[in-house]
Amino acid sequence: MAFIQISEAMQPSQDGKEASIRGWIYRKRTAGKMLFIVIRDASGVMQCAVKKDAVDAKGWENAEKALIESSVEVTGLVKKDERAPGGYEMQAKEFSVTQFSEIFPISKDVSTEFLLDVRHLWLRSQKLTNMMKARDFATRHFREFFVKEGFWEVTPPIITRAGCEGGSTLFNVDYFGEPAYLTQSGQLYLEVFITALEKAFILAPSFRAEPSRTVKHLTEYWHLEMEAAYYHNDDSMKFQEEMVSYVCQQMAKNHPELLQFFGRDPADLLAIKAPFDRLEYEDAIKQLQEKGVKKEWGDDFGAEDEKLLTGHLKQPIFITGYPKKIKAFYMKEDPKNPEKVLCADMMAPEGHGEVIGGSERIWELDELMKRMKEEKLEEKDYKWYVDLRRYGSVPHSGFGLGIERFMKWILNLDHIRDAIPFPRVINRCYP
Ligand code: 4AD
Ligand code: MG
Repeated sequence: MAFIQISEAMQPSQDGKEASIRGWIYRKRTAGKMLFIVIRDASGVMQCAVKKDAVDAKGWENAEKALIESSVEVTGLVKKDERAPGGYEMQAKEFSVTQFSEIFPISKDVSTEFLLDVRHLWLRSQKLTNMMKARDFATRHFREFFVKEGFWEVTPPIITRAGCEGGSTLFNVDYFGEPAYLTQSGQLYLEVFITALEKAFILAPSFRAEPSRTVKHLTEYWHLEMEAAYYHNDDSMKFQEEMVSYVCQQMAKNHPELLQFFGRDPADLLAIKAPFDRLEYEDAIKQLQEKGVKKEWGDDFGAEDEKLLTGHLKQPIFITGYPKKIKAFYMKEDPKNPEKVLCADMMAPEGHGEVIGGSERIWELDELMKRMKEEKLEEKDYKWYVDLRRYGSVPHSGFGLGIERFMKWILNLDHIRDAIPFPRVINRCYP
């Protein structure tokens, strides 16, 4: 008999019919001459009742012997049963084992560090399975939005010669004896792509040798970046708020059960609607000072500051117009104030903080050369980037969104590591 997915077996149309499912033993308990074995596959869980005299001797032996996480195949009658999880139960007729599992090392009272050590086994948990599904849906919806807006998806190199976001967080690569780095951002290359495609985006890993241990920093994360020719910073912000609203709406409408699993009320995301408030950098500093934080003009915001700025909010906000000296070299100077740049960071509400960093780029040769000198950047590593300002340069803007930061917010996770299957942080790159 052909196997069907558990979600299919749990449909009213299957009631009273025979079906075969296969998966892993999720839970098991004995009640006299009955075994209640809950089977899990990618689509859900289903309780199978195995009665000693309803299966053959081998089937009963298999069911008795198989431990949690054994891979199994069951054929039986699907019956509506209020007491079973999900309202349907399978009355087993055949029970075979693909592989008898050893004693599964994950039990109830294990530490967070242990769960990270056995991440390869813990990924099958309901929490991480649902995270992976939600993450996949969210990235699909992001892509939908980009396609809808006429953007091309492109692929940047990951091994590079030029840093994008400052030297302190670069991972070194020994490139056949020559120095190279793991990319911090695909942005500089996206700026090349727009000379051909005008509107382009990438979804690729970025790397930051982040020595900080926080709930929002990974050393390897997935970066959704956009760049568009002729866009000014305001156009980019408008695009960002519409994109974030779109994905929140789609997640709330299409996947409410996944959000609820994480304790996120879908109504919270339905309420996310563009436009988002704009807060000038100076006013953000003022807000922090009023809350008793020692901050002055020129300081950057840390995780605690972002919490104070967004803890009470229900919608994201933009913080705009940061001082030039705390932002990257490529950001365009504010024509109204040479100490500031045309940029905006999007802050997620409820204390989650920065999810997007974006800006208008310097597109004129002289201005870029001047900034690179000020920042003491090696001209030879950036020659190709500078070249773009020689051959038909146009104004342009773009941004980068951290996928894990976004998931942390919409699923309301305590820690960013639960938004990625195999988190890389300062003290971990195993498994
Ligand atoms: O603000 P960042 O550093 O900006 C850039 O890299 C620009 N080049 C992007 C661009 O304009 N194309 O990073 C962008 C976003 C942040 O807002 C955050 O969401 C995420 O990337 N991010 C991280 N996520 C997880 N762990 C880290 N260590 C991160 N660093 C940045
Ligand atoms: Mg940033």
